[in-house]
Amino acid sequence: MSNEKKQCKTMSALCEKLDKCEHYQKFAKYRDHILSLGNDSLEKTIAIALSLCFVCAILVSMAAVALRPLQVENKAMDMKKNILDVAGLLQDGTDIHEAFAEKIEAKLVDIATGDYVEGNVETYDQRKAAKDVAQNVVLTKEQDIASIKRRAKIAKVYLVKNGNDVKSIILPVHGYGLWSTMYGFLALDADGQTVQSINFYDQGETPGLGAEVVNPNWRALWKNKKVYDESGKVSLGLVKGLVDTNKAGSEYQVDGLAGATLTSVGVTNLVKYWMSQEGFAAYLDKVRTKG
Ligand SMILES: Cc1cc2nc3c(=O)[nH]c(=O)nc-3n(C[C@H](O)[C@H](O)[C@H](O)COP(=O)(O)O)c2cc1C
Repeated sequence: MSNEKKQCKTMSALCEKLDKCEHYQKFAKYRDHILSLGNDSLEKTIAIALSLCFVCAILVSMAAVALRPLQVENKAMDMKKNILDVAGLLQDGTDIHEAFAEKIEAKLVDIATGDYVEGNVETYDQRKAAKDVAQNVVLTKEQDIASIKRRAKIAKVYLVKNGNDVKSIILPVHGYGLWSTMYGFLALDADGQTVQSINFYDQGETPGLGAEVVNPNWRALWKNKKVYDESGKVSLGLVKGLVDTNKAGSEYQVDGLAGATLTSVGVTNLVKYWMSQEGFAAYLDKVRTKG
């Protein structure tokens, strides 16, 4: 028997079963009753409106379920794009997946010890882990200078490779600005001290004010700034106004955002937190000493 005939037979068997179904019979009876009513009947108007809502709800739900894998894929792609961007590897026409696979290696780091740990780097979600009591650390008021309340015990960092050498290290950072928690990446040279770039990929500050953290001109000011002073203290931060490059210490300073002092303070605080012993200081120490 041909495939088409088989399908026809299955369909007619299904229709037969449906016709015998008590609920379907009730539905068919009500449907016929509704269709027999005049167009100005209130009952018909409500029944048609409800059926339309029902059909639309099913269509929207089906679309949401069907598009979910695409959304996940796009989100992952976007994150790779941000990482390549902060690594200075994003140009027009860059093949995101290829460049990422070739140049970037993701690693999991125990923030407290600074050691690499085993785990599935592909599936580990640091933001989710920060909300899970089994995987997070709750910060005291004194520790919480970035106003994040809690952080994941394990961080996902990215090494930018040049053959077998590590060219730079990309660290995930976040902290509160004026209106939002700003999530970003800070890229440091392999010396764990010199800034390459910063990139805030998720923030809700005011466009033109605090949201200038995404402005490429402002981001460019971070290049070659230093994180730790001679005593090992985190000195990198934003100043109010412009940095006076003739003054000592300007290598630790970045121009503040005009009209957005509170966001600027938030950026300084999050850098201070994540570069301190509470953040990546132990890890960066190990990178410097062990390579
Ligand atoms: C509508 C509105 C939005 C603002 N958005 C921000 C912002 O995103 N970040 C920020 O630091 N200040 C923002 N401010 C300004 C702050 O309220 C505050 O005045 C400012 O941070 C002080 O900075 P300044 O000393 O550089 O003027 C906003 C003010 C208004 C009225």
